[in-house]
Amino acid sequence: MSKISLLGFLEERAGQYVSGEEISRELNVSRTAVWKQVRKLEAEGYRIEAVPRLGYRLTAKPSRLTLQELLPKLRTTSFGRRLTLLDVTDSTQNELRKLAEQGAPEGTLVIAEQQTNGRGRMGRSWVSPAGKGIWMSLLLRPPVPLPLAPQLTLLAAVALSRAIAQQLPMLEIGIKWPNDLLVGGKKISGILLESAAEDERLSYVVVGLGISANLDVEDYPEGLMDKAISLKIASGATVDRSELIAAVLEQFEQLYKLYLEQGFAPIRTLWEARSVTLGKQTELYTPQGTVVGLPRGLDDMGGLRVELPDGSTRTVYSAEVGS
Ligand code: BTN
Repeated sequence: MSKISLLGFLEERAGQYVSGEEISRELNVSRTAVWKQVRKLEAEGYRIEAVPRLGYRLTAKPSRLTLQELLPKLRTTSFGRRLTLLDVTDSTQNELRKLAEQGAPEGTLVIAEQQTNGRGRMGRSWVSPAGKGIWMSLLLRPPVPLPLAPQLTLLAAVALSRAIAQQLPMLEIGIKWPNDLLVGGKKISGILLESAAEDERLSYVVVGLGISANLDVEDYPEGLMDKAISLKIASGATVDRSELIAAVLEQFEQLYKLYLEQGFAPIRTLWEARSVTLGKQTELYTPQGTVVGLPRGLDDMGGLRVELPDGSTRTVYSAEVGS
């Protein structure tokens, strides 16, 4: 008997006692085998109550991510099907880059419970405490030219926002250009794309996804909570991280297929519909200087079209977005 089948059985009957006799009959194993597997699950952090004459009851799941729990939830073809789950690493970006260089296939995923040197955009660090968030990197090998890489950043933001909206429908999620997800004006996740190219074509892209799922107030360094919030604090409930990971991978794979089949146009429409940047006076700090104006939409490449006070339009491809 695998642990997965016992776990699945207990989860199916959540809140109820199931007798050892029934489990051994349904799963076709001895009662000693059931007991041994219960002990193993407990060692992994599951809490299983055993009451004489009533049987077993699952009362708590580990706060750690486990493959036993995650794998049965995956609904994807390739995304997350090669999966490395680490307790701690400096950055999942580094781990996945190594695998990419060794020829790992598209869809390979690295997840870590904790990052000691998580990276954010613009050279910033990313707070990644143990067991609290979703810190993961996904490998893509898109057959597109290097200048189109920003489109994947926008695609990732749409995928994340759809997955979170599906899991936590009470939250209103907006995308701030290019790919920050906000709830009530505060950042709940971040996306970092790092790519390698050969002859102007992308050989691979490492998509880093950081979701502040279950961080508590004390997990944030001073001052950061003015700008950031976790899904748990925003929604008032602990987030099931493995459900959310499965939803993100499903949305991501679906949108990526759509992108490969139909190009950027449908992604652009979805992004624009969720944007909180469009139509609002915005300051953009570009490497060439500050641009102030009204963002009107995306261009074909994924750049932000900004209407300037003199009525002309300027497209911005890389910038820090102010207020
Ligand atoms: C941002 O600055 O908004 C992007 C943050 C990206 C964080 C994720 S967490 C998983 C992956 N590993 C990293 O070191 N960074 C990304």
